[in-house]
Amino acid sequence: MAGGISTPALVAAVSRAGGLGFLASGMLTPDALREQLAAVRAELGDAPFGVNLFMPSPAPGDSAAIAAYASTLAPIASRLGVALGEPTFATDAYDEKLALLLGDAPAVVSFAFGCPSRAVVAQLHDAGAQVWVTVTQVDEAERAAAVGADAVVAQGNEAGGHRGAFVDDDRPQLPVLELVAAIRRATPSIPVVAAGAIMTGRHVAEVLQQGAAAAQAGTAFMLTPEAGTDATHRAAIAGEGPTTITRAFTGRRARGIANAWTELVGDAAPSAYPQLMHLTAPLRTRARQLGDADGINLWAGERHAQARAVPASDVVQSLAAGV
Ligand SMILES: Cc1cc2nc3c(=O)[nH]c(=O)nc-3n(C[C@H](O)[C@H](O)[C@H](O)COP(=O)(O)O)c2cc1C
Repeated sequence: MAGGISTPALVAAVSRAGGLGFLASGMLTPDALREQLAAVRAELGDAPFGVNLFMPSPAPGDSAAIAAYASTLAPIASRLGVALGEPTFATDAYDEKLALLLGDAPAVVSFAFGCPSRAVVAQLHDAGAQVWVTVTQVDEAERAAAVGADAVVAQGNEAGGHRGAFVDDDRPQLPVLELVAAIRRATPSIPVVAAGAIMTGRHVAEVLQQGAAAAQAGTAFMLTPEAGTDATHRAAIAGEGPTTITRAFTGRRARGIANAWTELVGDAAPSAYPQLMHLTAPLRTRARQLGDADGINLWAGERHAQARAVPASDVVQSLAAGV
């Protein structure tokens, strides 16, 4: 969970408890990733953990649409008393972070927002890492299998945060149980890690019954003391507010708890990642300082109200209990 939520302490606590913690390298500088890898290793020794990488967007979004969206945001910027950021386009230092992981490989490298090439998969295998690819559709799972990925992470529609889709399109996304079953039928040889609103041992048992090899949870860990979730976001997760899928904050579809920002914007935000993320960053930073839940991207899965404020090891244990 990028954006400061998956701290090295959370990764280590999950892996120590018998899960597989994932460090989120998305949006980190290569130096910050290096520091976080060292912090995880200092706690875990040789025990396994994973690192998640964002594939870079292939092309910038439409600049006229970005400018139009900037005017839509004017009332929010003026309410918060800050100027919008520069809508810059960048690759999130993908090449540097990949090189770092090739030189110092974790047990698993997982990809979001795209499929690595067969050559990159082979390099990671040579470096000693498994490769997992996040998919939201059957055709994406077929592509991941074709490049030699070791597993796909099947992200259902219920899931919190960004859609891990290869392309930020508007194709409908299946609920996790249906997506797992469809991928198992289409590509039976590749193991499937199921993701989306998995909050309890019963949810884990359901996806395993559907043929998944493992379950991945995000929101279930957001209230743990080890997570970097800020106080305003924690309060929203603990509440009952409905979630929505929106491009409003980053220019890529993501599920979060609805607020005045998502209501103001509706469907007006264009597909333009990461430009909209940079455009909106000063507003979101200011809103966090003010504790203003209407100015923050409140990423959360559909079952966020079931998240528990208990140590991460307790969450792992209850997920593994299978009931
Ligand atoms: C706050 C937050 C941040 C996330 N960041 C990432 C990320 O950096 N990379 C990624 O592949 N998925 C990310 N996701 C999606 C998760 O990998 C996963 O699909 C999702 O958490 C599953 O749904 P759940 O939150 O209902 O458990 C994020 C999800 C949340 C809630």
